Amino acid sequence: MSQIAKELLYTGKAKDVYKTDNDDEYIIKFRDDITALDGGKKDTLSKKGVYNALISTKLFEVLEAEGIKTQYIELLSPDEMLTMSLDMIPLEVICRNIATGSLVKKYPFPEKKELNPPIIQFDYKNDEYHDPMLNDSIILALDIVSQDALDEIRQITLKINRVLSDFLKSKGLLLVDFKLEYGFDKDGNIILGDEISPDTTRLWDVDTLENFDKDIFRKGEDGVVDAYRKVVDLILTDDEKDKWNVKDIE
Ligand SMILES: Nc1ncnc2c1ncn2[C@@H]1O[C@H](COP(=O)(O)OP(=O)(O)OP(=O)(O)O)[C@@H](O)[C@H]1O
Ligand SMILES: [Mg+2]
Repeated sequence: MSQIAKELLYTGKAKDVYKTDNDDEYIIKFRDDITALDGGKKDTLSKKGVYNALISTKLFEVLEAEGIKTQYIELLSPDEMLTMSLDMIPLEVICRNIATGSLVKKYPFPEKKELNPPIIQFDYKNDEYHDPMLNDSIILALDIVSQDALDEIRQITLKINRVLSDFLKSKGLLLVDFKLEYGFDKDGNIILGDEISPDTTRLWDVDTLENFDKDIFRKGEDGVVDAYRKVVDLILTDDEKDKWNVKDIE
């Protein structure tokens, strides 16, 4: 555990958010809890939190290196990230490169159809209303963000898609789709928050199209955590693995 004094602010389905004695910084603890199907399916899987924290850290660092502003400050322990404290925007910003999942259930896309340009979709992050899909007019009418902010969120998301798709492809993984959450910092800048992990992305082997993400859990198959571990092994450098003693995590 980290040495920074902290106070639990809120507990989500997979992470805890703590206040620190610095108003500008929070600590996000990645828990082993996993949920799917609108909370209908739940489990606790040992080491999932650590793997998600390591994967999120790596991907936030990759984005920062390309000039994208993220909440990430430092990984304090294998499952605790020091982040900026953000005023979160209640949008799930979804970006899709390949049609699968709910998209092929709801619309007549053939499974695995390549989507070029990618599809960007906004869902309302609101459990009571079951995260309904929004459009620009509804977002403006609900006063969620301004049109300018929405346009900026679209542009940042497309850049994130390009950066992460290239990085992951170089590691043997296809970025099929992903969900992002943004927030405002104290100066009103739009900052990428939350997490980027196999809980929130679909990652397929570039050759076999085998999946390494939460779909394994959604389908009720075994080996979810082994798949997350495989992502850690693929994307972290040897130095990063040594630093976090990845070989001792089992
Ligand atoms: N940098 C940040 N500052 C403030 N809140 C954040 C930050 N990053 C993520 N959050 C919020 O932390 C919460 C906890 O994450 P988790 O994924 O466990 O929750 P969730 O189940 O998705 O959401 P919720 O419980 O709010 O419905 C989420 O509401 C997320 O929006
Ligand atoms: Mg979440």
